[in-house]
Amino acid sequence: MHIAITGGSGRLGHYVRLALADHELRVLDHTPPTSSVPDFRHVDIRDLDGLTAALQGIEAVVHLGAIDRSVATDDALTMQVNAMGTWAVFEASRRAGVRRVVHCSSSSVTGIDASNPTMPPHYLPIDEAHEARPTDAYGLSKLCSERIAEAYARRGMEVLVLRPCFVAFPDLVDFMAGRPGPAGREEPMPFLRAYVGPEDCAHGFALAIAVDYTGYGTFFLAADDAFSDQPTVTRLEDFYGAYIPVRDTTFYEAHPCASPVSNAQARVRLGWVPTTRWTGGGLVGA
Ligand SMILES: NC(=O)c1ccc[n+]([C@@H]2O[C@H](COP(=O)([O-])OP(=O)(O)OC[C@H]3O[C@@H](n4cnc5c(N)ncnc54)[C@H](O)[C@@H]3O)[C@@H](O)[C@H]2O)c1
Repeated sequence: MHIAITGGSGRLGHYVRLALADHELRVLDHTPPTSSVPDFRHVDIRDLDGLTAALQGIEAVVHLGAIDRSVATDDALTMQVNAMGTWAVFEASRRAGVRRVVHCSSSSVTGIDASNPTMPPHYLPIDEAHEARPTDAYGLSKLCSERIAEAYARRGMEVLVLRPCFVAFPDLVDFMAGRPGPAGREEPMPFLRAYVGPEDCAHGFALAIAVDYTGYGTFFLAADDAFSDQPTVTRLEDFYGAYIPVRDTTFYEAHPCASPVSNAQARVRLGWVPTTRWTGGGLVGA
């Protein structure tokens, strides 16, 4: 299949390129990739005409291009690139006759993070039906991007929205374990301690490209466990100072450190099975 990857030069883009290596890939980014890519197009995703030209002959798009939370320092730019840029990617895809777009949203659409320290989850595990109530520019931009994606599904495009949790890139494992992380990184420790391994995350995108699917669907990509050695429910109740209803109590009794975010939808509909586990302050199984 001919597949374009926006933001394909980035960290997750590297892993998604590997996961889709059996296809004809075209990378669209405003930064060149650090490793050699046969078909790289220098495009800003806010440039509708440039995107439309770059998507000619493409059957499916993986839309990763964005200002990620970890680099989001300018709210106006975050909204322009993540919301307006996503509109341009979908509109250019429609104009170019692209059949499917797999859009990268984020677990940040829930707003259950450092931007809302007094808003605990309504229930555990958090699933795709949980209310989305972001208040910061990054979470809002991703929520806008999901509504845009849904609108294009209503126009007949196949649209799958993946919501990765914190992607555990190798250089972030020390930070996750509470040790000093990479210099200059501003993002606070995720309250939920939900994560996904980068290979697992990329595999989710490859499955979303291949799965038999029509219409619109949203899927969290979360490892089975949290990156904490403390039991998930009591950890979050202590943190928020609030009772949090648990929908499946036997689940957390059997797996006390299970993720606060459910991956059931991705497992059932995409056939996605995460392979990583957090243990002893590091990741195993990747
Ligand atoms: N890293 C995480 O923990 C995480 C978690 C959930 C969702 N996400 C999402 O995953 C996607 C990839 O994130 P990442 O971690 O690889 O970040 P990244 O910053 O490494 O990659 C983003 C890529 O988008 C490109 N880009 C940014 N603005 C652009 C523009 N205007 N035009 C063209 N290209 C542009 C960048 O050059 C970069 O290559 C993003 O959509 C991000 O929001 C990331």
